[in-house]
Amino acid sequence: MVLDRIVLVRGDITEMDVDAVVNAANTSLLGGGGVDGAIHRAAGPELLEACRPLGGCATGDAKITMGYGLPARYVIHTPGPVWHGGQHGEAELLASCYRRSLELARDHDCKTVAFPAISCGVYGYPVEQACSVALKTITDFLKDDDSLEKVYLVAFGDEVAERYRELGV
Ligand code: APR
Repeated sequence: MVLDRIVLVRGDITEMDVDAVVNAANTSLLGGGGVDGAIHRAAGPELLEACRPLGGCATGDAKITMGYGLPARYVIHTPGPVWHGGQHGEAELLASCYRRSLELARDHDCKTVAFPAISCGVYGYPVEQACSVALKTITDFLKDDDSLEKVYLVAFGDEVAERYRELGV
């Protein structure tokens, strides 16, 4: 059963004691606000030093670093799409963020990974649609892969939590 490997969590992703936390980054990978800011604050300055040589990251792709001061061993940085109304490939790019992040987690022998609601803050992606894309992408990946034991969906606010509950998480 795939859905029993997907767990909704309320709270701050920086506190998650998992193998990898996913960061809703920007393409520079040089930090920002929101969850990006929280992860960099909690990980400490070594995280930014580790990101500098990576040369940024394309929207929809993902890159991995160590977690430094975080409980999580790794941080997987993925820039989500900025919402421009839904006719500019946003859904495919968002799905790619989740898929590429799960691929990197698997390739680094992670058993547990935690996602924030990528693009649902500053990038303005409508929560209802973003959570549907996230859940479909994750369930499709887990159908073909039994190496990941738990995928945590971390809802910082009520809207994301309520949407995932509506979707049966
Ligand atoms: N833990 C979990 N989720 C969080 C946290 C946290 N500590 N802080 C914020 N969130 C949630 C937000 O409530 C939102 O639902 O993460 C989701 C993504 O919001 P943002 O962090 O604004 O990310 P995003 O919309 O993808 O925009 C990315 O914002 O911070 C900058 O550098 C980042 O330019 C990039 C842009």
